Amino acid sequence: MTSTPVGIHDLSFATTHYALDHGVLAERLGVDPDKFYLGIGQEMMSVAAADEDIVTIAAAAAKPILDRHGVDNIRTVLLATESGVDQSKAAGLYLHPLIGLPNTARVVELKQACYGGTAGLQFAAGLIARDPSQRVLVIAADIAKYELDTPGEPTQGAAAVAMLVSANPAILELEPHSGIYSADIMDFWRPNYRTAAMVDGKTSVNAYQKATQEAWTDYRRNGGRDLTEFAAFCYHQPFTKMAFKAHRHLLESQGHTAEPAEIDAALHNTTIYNRTVGNSYTASLYLGLASLLDHTGDLTGQALAFISYGSGSVAEFFSGTVQPGYREHLRTEENRDAIATRVALDYDRYRVLHETESPSDGMYHAIPEETGRPFRLAAISGHKRIYESR
Ligand code: CAA
Repeated sequence: MTSTPVGIHDLSFATTHYALDHGVLAERLGVDPDKFYLGIGQEMMSVAAADEDIVTIAAAAAKPILDRHGVDNIRTVLLATESGVDQSKAAGLYLHPLIGLPNTARVVELKQACYGGTAGLQFAAGLIARDPSQRVLVIAADIAKYELDTPGEPTQGAAAVAMLVSANPAILELEPHSGIYSADIMDFWRPNYRTAAMVDGKTSVNAYQKATQEAWTDYRRNGGRDLTEFAAFCYHQPFTKMAFKAHRHLLESQGHTAEPAEIDAALHNTTIYNRTVGNSYTASLYLGLASLLDHTGDLTGQALAFISYGSGSVAEFFSGTVQPGYREHLRTEENRDAIATRVALDYDRYRVLHETESPSDGMYHAIPEETGRPFRLAAISGHKRIYESR
């Protein structure tokens, strides 16, 4: 029996109003900037203005998809985040008035650290396999926040990636093979009472590498491709150097010689956007895919590997093939524009933004207009978040 091809039909990316330069951060922290540029592979990070959150960037990522494809047959909206705005209500519901989501779509929020977007993609593929006439909007949106003056601080960032998942996709067909590794580990977590993540940095780096190797082993056990068959490897990128470390570890664990030039050829184009956007948790892997497609010559028919890692932890190794004609569907100019139009953030304002807490007294709090992006958080009143289009 041949099954209907399912995968990514459209992909759109948005980020925040501000960007902080790692040169500025290094100078103020008294650190050699090469630790950031070369050591962790980051140049800048996106930072949210006071009137931005994961809802505003998710709306900005998803709107171009609805503008292009309409809402017909979108029966499910899955928003994955680990920096959500409510413990009960799904963030996707705030998108209804902002971008005109259909009332006939189920809306759910997914969480498992940085892995949530991949869960969304796989759940979407399952729903579409059951009824190929349906389409699913998957949105991965996160604002990564660590305490100031900690090793995690230079690995902050923010982005949202929205994907329309459908039968007969225009960009990437998902292959049925998948390898999974999950285990209870405290490498990175955020208790309900904290706004910044807790992390055991070195443990997390080792856990990521082990989980990658285990997920790969499971992928092969389930009939997946050989490592030599992939044109590129899209990794989750908490910082871009992590992808290179994990790939070297994976190759060596399989007895391959990990030549730096070979690793660079397989990964470099997946890291161009993340290098300047920073960690976007659930969105990071899919920003890596956007970066690869936007910066590489024709990939038609090529197999791509995807390695998703969410601390705590769940990892998945899966694969897909690039579809004929995909380049006509890319949003390369818009993606580059989203990055280029960020406003340089000065260090003092960055610290103020970082330390400002959401009001929790239930009174009316107007939020001054700061972002230049299409959607903003206008006020918090009676413990309700009030959004508006600009
Ligand atoms: N020039 C060039 N390189 C330099 C340098 C210099 N002047 N100074 C240091 N470096 C290099 C170091 O040699 C090191 O390279 P290697 O890793 O190849 O050895 C690199 O820069 C980083 O230096 P340190 O290890 O000393 O850095 P650190 O301890 O201050 O911070 C970190 C590293 C612990 C990973 C920290 O960034 C962190 O806590 N990050 C958050 C957690 C994280 O991102 N974990 C990743 C896996 S978990 C995950 O993926 C989920 C998620 O999204 C969070």
